[in-house]
Amino acid sequence: MKVGIIGGTGFYEAGILSEEMDVTATTPYGPVNIKTGVYQGREVVFLARHGARHTVPPHLVNYRANIWALREIGVEKVIATAAVGSLQKDLKPGEIVLVDQFLDFTKSRAQTFFEGNGTGVLHVDVTNPYCPSLREEICRSAGRIQVVLHNGGTYVCTEGPRYETPAEIRMFRSLGGDVVGMTSVPEVVLAREAALCYATIALVTNYAAGISSRPLSHQEIVAAMNEAQGELRRIIFSVLENVSESRPCNCSQAARELNSI
Ligand code: HPA
Repeated sequence: MKVGIIGGTGFYEAGILSEEMDVTATTPYGPVNIKTGVYQGREVVFLARHGARHTVPPHLVNYRANIWALREIGVEKVIATAAVGSLQKDLKPGEIVLVDQFLDFTKSRAQTFFEGNGTGVLHVDVTNPYCPSLREEICRSAGRIQVVLHNGGTYVCTEGPRYETPAEIRMFRSLGGDVVGMTSVPEVVLAREAALCYATIALVTNYAAGISSRPLSHQEIVAAMNEAQGELRRIIFSVLENVSESRPCNCSQAARELNSI
């Protein structure tokens, strides 16, 4: 079983994979640059969500091509990283959240592989958008190396690329959001359609607008990400060492209700 890693902001290289190879995958949605390699016997596929030099903004990421490419190359479990702002005072920059729900405030993104006609119609179930079994494996792997993370949290996905107003942040918090970012939707939804196990390890890089006393900047977020980089990588490497071949969740059957015509 291959494991996919989707590196978000500040996470552009897998690092220490052996037999590393650059591959351009062809998909119906366009080409995708990925790296394949091996970590302690485990085949790994790495993809930088925003491109290797952060040239693709969140609203223009080719989410369908990325997920298609991972599935096509044989990935079954995907670990995504994400930089997020915190909506809660007691969730501090530097802390790590294994999110378990999302609130979708995106506006203009293709969210499905199934567009009717030849591809059929799918109303995919997202009761557990982030794979509970993979999340459990990540928690156990983090525990093994004594890294503390918050197990559970609601990710508010905005359209971006601008940051939020303090009024929006107040609204998101009152709706039950814990962290805010710009990329988890539709990535998680497409992963579900593609019957992949998918989990997001979110690193809190900043307090969200209005909670933070200063204006937000991408530089600040990348700097916070760089600082926590080592810890995130240690979690991922621990998962790669311990991840099981089995999939006791229902992710592999997510598309069973597909109506093809
Ligand atoms: N808002 C949106 N996206 C983000 C933030 C934020 O505060 N921090 C990191 N990604």
